[in-house]
Amino acid sequence: MAAKREKVGIIGSGLIGRSWSMLFAAADYDVCLYDIDEKQLSGAVQDIQKQLALLDKQGLLRGQLSADQQFKNISTTSDLSQCVENADYIQECVPERIELKTAVYSRIDPIIKDTCILASSASALLPSKLAANIQHKNRFIVVHPTNPPFYAPLVELVPSPWADSDIVPTTKSIMEKIRQVPVILKKEIDGFVLNRIQYAIFKESWRLIKDGVISVEGLDKVMSAGLGRRYAFMGPIETAYLNADGMYSYAERYAEMIQGIMATFREPDQFGGETLDQIQAEMEQLVPMDTLQERRKWRDRRLAALAQLQKKLNEEDI
Ligand SMILES: NC(=O)c1ccc[n+]([C@@H]2O[C@H](COP(=O)([O-])OP(=O)(O)OC[C@H]3O[C@@H](n4cnc5c(N)ncnc54)[C@H](O)[C@@H]3O)[C@@H](O)[C@H]2O)c1
Repeated sequence: MAAKREKVGIIGSGLIGRSWSMLFAAADYDVCLYDIDEKQLSGAVQDIQKQLALLDKQGLLRGQLSADQQFKNISTTSDLSQCVENADYIQECVPERIELKTAVYSRIDPIIKDTCILASSASALLPSKLAANIQHKNRFIVVHPTNPPFYAPLVELVPSPWADSDIVPTTKSIMEKIRQVPVILKKEIDGFVLNRIQYAIFKESWRLIKDGVISVEGLDKVMSAGLGRRYAFMGPIETAYLNADGMYSYAERYAEMIQGIMATFREPDQFGGETLDQIQAEMEQLVPMDTLQERRKWRDRRLAALAQLQKKLNEEDI
């Protein structure tokens, strides 16, 4: 007899719920997708079919199954109990509002299996707040994806403070099985890690534009033609390690200079006023507002091309 396929319940069929459904379906999970809004759910089904066809065309379809087989692994329901009953893993993807998420948890808490992993896609809400009042708080973890998850596979794993000892290793191996790239946070912190780093960059970018040091165009080029080129392959720590002969040598050569510059950093500025007007106006010159859709497609084509290149480099071990 064939082994029973593991069931994954996905709650919320927006941008992120759709991606999770496709990722689990590619690894042959039995996926059940639920949404409170039936129109949203039928739109999700059409979109998933289209996206799978596109990934197939780009050579980026994951796993061994055809696009059609992956599509067939996803069922939908407008009954929340049906979505979570007997699920081995649940990924909640409703909007980032604590009262919405906790209302969903209190509805599913009495139904889910005691061994089920209850994961939230929350971008910033802390597991200790999200899981505080549920019976299954020991099964709760935030699994924060990066958008778009197919092209940017990082997921941050942030367990609830009450999580059983198997939660982190099991979630990590599930993420590896679906070919995402998990990182484990040893404790929770506002913004987790990805957004803290993103906002640190944003804070200093804002300041440099406000102080008249550089234009918006110049600032963005510093990332796209400079730092970002390396960061597509390695982080700031390995960058430093390779830029000298290891960390001791990096510290010996640069610590004094770096600390001197860091001492000139200031408190965050208000995101508003004249600087906001200036940034919007300069961006409009570069990317007119009526071309945003086109520009998003341009971005996604490049992300797909980079994913293809990364796949090739990994396969050939270059
Ligand atoms: N969009 C991103 O870039 C991104 C990245 C990482 C994490 N996240 C997080 O993922 C979660 C979902 O974000 P999204 O961008 O997919 O949002 P979205 O607005 O695209 O989709 C949310 C979906 O949830 C549904 N919904 C609302 N209330 C519901 C309920 N009670 N039960 C079931 N479904 C319900 C909506 O109908 C909608 O389909 C959020 O916590 C968000 O912060 C988003």
